Amino acid sequence: MDVKNLRVSFQTPEGEVGAVQNVSFSIPRGKTLALVGESGSGKSVTAYALLRLIQPPGRILGGHIVLRSRREGEIDIAHLDEQSGLLYKVRGGLVSMIFQEPMTALSPAHTIGSQIDEAMLVHQEVSRAAARRYTLEMLHKVGLTDAERRYSQYPHELSGGMRQRAIIAMALVCRPELLIADEPTTALDVTMQAQILGLIKSLQREIGCAVLLITHDFGVVAQMADEVAVMRQGEIVERGTVRDVLKRPRHAHTQALLDALPSRRARVT
Ligand SMILES: Nc1ncnc2c1ncn2[C@@H]1O[C@H](COP(=O)(O)OP(=O)(O)OP(=O)(O)O)[C@@H](O)[C@H]1O
Ligand SMILES: [Mg+2]
Repeated sequence: MDVKNLRVSFQTPEGEVGAVQNVSFSIPRGKTLALVGESGSGKSVTAYALLRLIQPPGRILGGHIVLRSRREGEIDIAHLDEQSGLLYKVRGGLVSMIFQEPMTALSPAHTIGSQIDEAMLVHQEVSRAAARRYTLEMLHKVGLTDAERRYSQYPHELSGGMRQRAIIAMALVCRPELLIADEPTTALDVTMQAQILGLIKSLQREIGCAVLLITHDFGVVAQMADEVAVMRQGEIVERGTVRDVLKRPRHAHTQALLDALPSRRARVT
């Protein structure tokens, strides 16, 4: 994925707010880019833009979102027609997203299994029976014990950690080329966080997809990412390998984010 000069704004009573301003980054196949930054810096808006999910009063003002797909060739998502069949292939097929609000990803009225089946039936030419088989396999892969039972359960019957595993299963069942994970573990306790991140990493290896990981937690960055981009007020203010940025932050804002790490605070005091 190559993003170039992406700009997104929201029309508000006070005027046009540039939520994303000339943002550029690349994520090579199989690699992970962490997008970090304080609350309101534009991380989620960037993620939504990559899937063309920005709703009015927001809109993409310009830029390119180029997915170099193995299956479909080169696609500039920013310039696809809203009705284009390719946009449907992109959403949830070539690019899938784990949303920041876990409950928005799952419908409370449908069983876990039927929702994951559906994700596959929309994007792939599989029979219902085959979809069910893949879903069960995927539920097993994300570490849900007793997959058959989970398949027939509703989201509210699962714990938070189990739900997040089901969401990951749904995001990866179509073997996307890019996975966007927006704060995938924020709602979970620390032990569960580590497990879920480990799971994302191992499935990423298996599928070979690129990952855009959004977080405000540099601990997560260190565990997961190859490169990191730091956002502030809609702009990327610093970008580099995790090693370089963690070792020698060039921007005062990055230093401030690093200082907020509990482990660092402990070392300083
Ligand atoms: N519906 C909206 N209407 C107006 N402005 C919006 C809207 N959604 C987002 N914005 C603007 O976009 C900015 C970035 O929001 P975004 O949700 O991307 O932040 P974030 O970096 O994901 O923060 P967090 O870490 O809290 O999730 C906000 O500060 C706000 O100015
Ligand atoms: Mg956000």
